[in-house]
Amino acid sequence: MTVKKGLDTDQIIKSLRTRYIGKELLYFKSTGSTNLEASEAGKKRSPEGTLVIADKQTQGKGRLGRSWISPPFANLYFSVLLRPRISPQTAGWINLLASVSLVKSIQSSTGLVPDIKWPNDIMVNEKKLGGILTELHLKGDQIDYLVLGIGINVNMGRFPALISKTATSLKKELKHDLHREALCISILEKIEEDLELFYQKGPGTVLSEWEKHSNTLGKSVIVRQPGQTLSGKAIGLDSNGGLMVKTEDGAKVTVMAGDVIHLRTIGET
Ligand code: BTN
Repeated sequence: MTVKKGLDTDQIIKSLRTRYIGKELLYFKSTGSTNLEASEAGKKRSPEGTLVIADKQTQGKGRLGRSWISPPFANLYFSVLLRPRISPQTAGWINLLASVSLVKSIQSSTGLVPDIKWPNDIMVNEKKLGGILTELHLKGDQIDYLVLGIGINVNMGRFPALISKTATSLKKELKHDLHREALCISILEKIEEDLELFYQKGPGTVLSEWEKHSNTLGKSVIVRQPGQTLSGKAIGLDSNGGLMVKTEDGAKVTVMAGDVIHLRTIGET
């Protein structure tokens, strides 16, 4: 049985070995959305790395205007305020970087090996375990701040009927409850480490690691975008992290946002 206990943020603060992420921590027992709270913090010039974490969200936001189901005490919902000194065009790499950091920290904390559905859905056996919503706030043509919002289904035992076939949690996969604080710490440390590497070396490492963990590349896919659907083979990422798709008529199209559906290839079980 899951114990309905709030997050121990003192433990997060005490154990976190980061330079700036989580040094300022805002905890909410319940809030609309940690991304909204982090965005407010960004407007108020809160320091880079400010962590907003909640035990429940009443209006959790997902990609493409969807909602993110955020029941109390079960999962991780948090947002990190960043002020990257990079161009807005390259900010998409942070989106992909975070998915790689999540996969690596989930793997080292639990032994499970999730993979990534483009752009940044964290999947286990083709079911969604976690998601990332990055929101960019510009001042003129520069990044003012970026909110990196992360939701992971940790100890959620039951899902609403609408998503019960497409979503999973660590508890469902591993058959036991997990320590949310420890997982959160591991993710934050990995994100900071990967960000430092990205700022120093550029997107090369992110690209190769994302490719290693991707379950989209090489697959036949359907990409649904607002007002347009296309199908073809996912062949790679472009220089801004967009997905390149080779359509049936041989054209190469780059997609920056959308929903990917993987089609089973012949011979795949
Ligand atoms: C997705 O649709 O895959 C992205 C989901 C992102 C959910 C997280 S939960 C914490 C943060 N606050 C939000 O409102 N959304 C993100």
